[in-house]
Amino acid sequence: MEIKKQLLSLTPYQPGKPMDEVKREFALDKIVKLASNENPFGCSIHVKTAIMEQLGKAATYPDGYARQLRESLAAHLSVAEEELIFGNGSDEVIQIISRALLHSGKNTVMATPTFPQYKHNAVIEGAEVREVVIKDGHHQLDDMLKQIDENTAIVWLCSPNNPTGTYINEERLLSFIQKVPSTCLIVIDEAYKEYVTAQDYPETLKLLKEYPNLLVTRTFSKAYGLASFRIGYGVANKELIRLLEPAREPFNTNSMAQVAATAGIQDQIFIKNCVEKNKQGLEQFYSFCRELQLAYYPSEGNFILIDFEADSDVLFHYLLTKGYIVRSGNALGYPGCLRITIGTEEQNREIISHLKEYKLKQAI
Ligand SMILES: Cc1ncc(COP(=O)(O)O)c(C=O)c1O
Repeated sequence: MEIKKQLLSLTPYQPGKPMDEVKREFALDKIVKLASNENPFGCSIHVKTAIMEQLGKAATYPDGYARQLRESLAAHLSVAEEELIFGNGSDEVIQIISRALLHSGKNTVMATPTFPQYKHNAVIEGAEVREVVIKDGHHQLDDMLKQIDENTAIVWLCSPNNPTGTYINEERLLSFIQKVPSTCLIVIDEAYKEYVTAQDYPETLKLLKEYPNLLVTRTFSKAYGLASFRIGYGVANKELIRLLEPAREPFNTNSMAQVAATAGIQDQIFIKNCVEKNKQGLEQFYSFCRELQLAYYPSEGNFILIDFEADSDVLFHYLLTKGYIVRSGNALGYPGCLRITIGTEEQNREIISHLKEYKLKQAI
């Protein structure tokens, strides 16, 4: 038996400790997870009704075309049904794209630090990975362009970027897209799109007609609060979607996920409320950072990267003992920092008070 040699350089996904185990270990009453940019307000009440109805149909395979969801989403986004591809999370859409376009002899360009799955999939497919370091939280688009050559199959843009929360504005994006050769696919990962309030955030779906080499990925895991169902999607022109489709497993998205996402789309008031509360939550963290003079990136997502100028792992562990799970910057390419998901008003207040206490102890 011979495993592809490139797999030997990869480590399996490291899941965090189960919440119950943390609770027992530190004798805590409650655990708050602000580590994976999930929605602290759950999901729309309509989702619950829809999945209860679906439960009775567990014995049948899901609709491999996801017709009902496809119709709802196409109408919601004002795109054609054939311009959509669904995945078991946008993670799987990234995998499908990589499987379809990358192989040894090809290369792919991305920022670093960014969402790790672009690189992970590229390594598995045997493609060369060209990473361009982010400066001041921003993709260095000119430097990324210089890395693109005739063998570049995909360039990945993450906007808002995980873990920085920063975004690529319309002017910069347009100028970049115009210069990318048509032989290179441009993927814009908009997992946090619903949370964005910046006025100059580009409306990328409008660009799809003009740029057949553009594909936008989004997810129901974040603002829609459906992470456990695993459902995300890609939008691109029909011809490109048709070429990608054979790389997708026929029943990759399950029935529960499809009905949950369909119900979620119908409740835009829920999304609006979550976005508003997220904005207020971000303000709580901004004023905390200003008060303690901590550097941070203004975020357009539902998380914030803060530089505590501390050992990230030690601070992570300190918060764990208080019942708060966050992401250490050491794992994200930002030593000294923590990435914290914006929680409810109360969760934000509590974690901020633990962080203040920690900084106070450090100062003594
Ligand atoms: C930037 C970005 N893209 C994609 C994903 C994958 O999300 P999912 O597979 O749940 O749709 C995430 C998840 O954290 C993310 O942060």
